[in-house]
Amino acid sequence: MEKINIAIIGFGTVGSGLYSLLDRNSALIKTRTGVSITIKTICDLRTDLVKEKTKNVSITDSWKEIIDDDDINIVVELIGGIEPAKTIILEALKNNKGVVTANKKLLAEEGMDIFEQAGKNKKLGFEAAVGGGIPCILALKHGLTGNKIKSIMGILNGTTNYILTMMEEKNMSYEESLKDAQDKGFAEADPTSDVMGYDAAHKIALLAMIAYGKKVDYSSIIINGITDLNMTDLSYAHDMGYVIKLMGIAKEYNDGLDIRVHPTMIPLTHPLAPVRNEFNAVMFDADMTDPIILYGKGAGSLPTASAVLSDILQIAERGSLEDHPFITGGDASYIKPENRISRYYLRITSLDQPGILSKISGVLGSHDISIASVIQKETESNEEHVPLIIMTHNACDKDILHAVSEINDFSFVKGHVVIIRVEDSLQEGDMR
Ligand code: HSE
Repeated sequence: MEKINIAIIGFGTVGSGLYSLLDRNSALIKTRTGVSITIKTICDLRTDLVKEKTKNVSITDSWKEIIDDDDINIVVELIGGIEPAKTIILEALKNNKGVVTANKKLLAEEGMDIFEQAGKNKKLGFEAAVGGGIPCILALKHGLTGNKIKSIMGILNGTTNYILTMMEEKNMSYEESLKDAQDKGFAEADPTSDVMGYDAAHKIALLAMIAYGKKVDYSSIIINGITDLNMTDLSYAHDMGYVIKLMGIAKEYNDGLDIRVHPTMIPLTHPLAPVRNEFNAVMFDADMTDPIILYGKGAGSLPTASAVLSDILQIAERGSLEDHPFITGGDASYIKPENRISRYYLRITSLDQPGILSKISGVLGSHDISIASVIQKETESNEEHVPLIIMTHNACDKDILHAVSEINDFSFVKGHVVIIRVEDSLQEGDMR
């Protein structure tokens, strides 16, 4: 297709970024690819705003007009959420239009109908759904086709990475860091999806589906956000030679996939440790290449528009996006909690009294959990409760969760135990 007409549905941050990108770089794109892209129609309920910010485009508040317009080759869905985005995408695919979307929540939580429909016309692109401007789907699908993917580890959420960086480097509290992120435009007014880990879970689910060719059930992903963490955790982690990052992790084992999102302690020497502020990075550990890291801006108007444009061009140049259907292996199976093994950092906020440590270590021992180190620093304040930090040797998820539940029930424990998984010692072959 040398000339293509696109329609943008949703003229928010990314939609307006795509408009600017084409305004600035259309000639360059035409020279490089021979493809001339025209934005024929923009659909948004705020038609006055679109009118003010654009020229030479049709403007509508009805997405149905776009689906029915035979002159539109590709629909760019940028409204987010489940409905009407799902109906728009399905209708557009059924009308044999290409669809490009950044809608990670829809694809990860309710994408199966869409993937099935897209399997027929092979014109669905969602590069912008993962890692913003970082071309990680392209790298995974095409650059690494000849590899078995041993694991994916990603810092996939800029908001939380910014918050954790501020907490670690500027000694700011979680609340102060979140406020700072909101003031700088990195965090949304409602940060729930970011800080609870849901946004990162959507992204790792999509990467895992592509890497392992299986349907991932979003509800089977273990998801813990960063809201329980405080500066003590980041500072103790640093003293122990670690940094804490919110990681999306996917690995394939003989008995199934292990997919999770949680605060993770990684050694300061880990290649993802220096990824600071709002930046994202994805590490694919592949059997031929060994680890590969892609780093960049995981959000923002122009970076995300760049990913959208990459999909538009692939559809325009090749007529389709999928050289091969990416889900070939049916439903994924998942490893059992007793087979998920790592070292664990536990922060227990406890009364400072005789006999407490022995009670806690007794519970851990009774669950076959061996303690590697214990830290309790003397405090000058008259706080009744003090943080007790325990680092375990390798233990399994199931045992840790049972032990922590018992420790939470002790009357001398305030609140609940904070658990952080450590990613340093688990190697293939460590499975029990
Ligand atoms: N809110 C996300 C982030 C970007 O903070 O990285 C969109 O997924």
